[in-house]
Amino acid sequence: MKSLTKIAIAVGAVAIATTALAQPRPEQFVKQRQSALALIGWYFGPMGAVAKGEAPFNKEDAVRRTTNLVALSKMPWEGFVAGTDNVGNTKAKPEIWTQNAKFKEAGAKMEAELVKLAAAANAGNEAEFKKQFGVVGGTCKACHDDFRKQ
Ligand code: HEC
Repeated sequence: MKSLTKIAIAVGAVAIATTALAQPRPEQFVKQRQSALALIGWYFGPMGAVAKGEAPFNKEDAVRRTTNLVALSKMPWEGFVAGTDNVGNTKAKPEIWTQNAKFKEAGAKMEAELVKLAAAANAGNEAEFKKQFGVVGGTCKACHDDFRKQ
């Protein structure tokens, strides 16, 4: 019985430790969203040369990038938790939380337009891909203008 009690205490301690680990610190939320957005920039940016006609359209590369982007586009939002507008080096404006519905809408718009960009890439439709790249870029800019410090 004694050892069972010890096990119960040990299990309880592990549960408490796990709960503590499940609560990220404010800086970790900032890092989460900045990391996701940095990766979005990483996969999206180089396709600009293709859209401008400065680099050839490569279906395989476009599919790889847009597949990653569709997955990444769902990630930054959970990092925008209330109370993290002044943490570390964040460029998040307080309007993200005071106009949260508008912010979420801007995020959803980017996600939806990226799905269309991925569809154009998968179809190997170069003309549509180039046009849609500009549409997605517009969704990045719209949100940055309203919600990111310059
Ligand atoms: C719904 C709003 C929103 C959309 C849409 C959006 N961004 Fe951002 N982005 C932000 C905010 C806010 C920050 C600043 C985050 C911070 O510093 O905490 C940011 C930061 C960034 C950063 C800097 C990340 C770092 O290293 O700190 C890059 C790169 C970036 N965005 C690229 C993009 C690209 C490319 C797109 C479009 C494909 C895009 N973003 C769409 C809101 C948005």
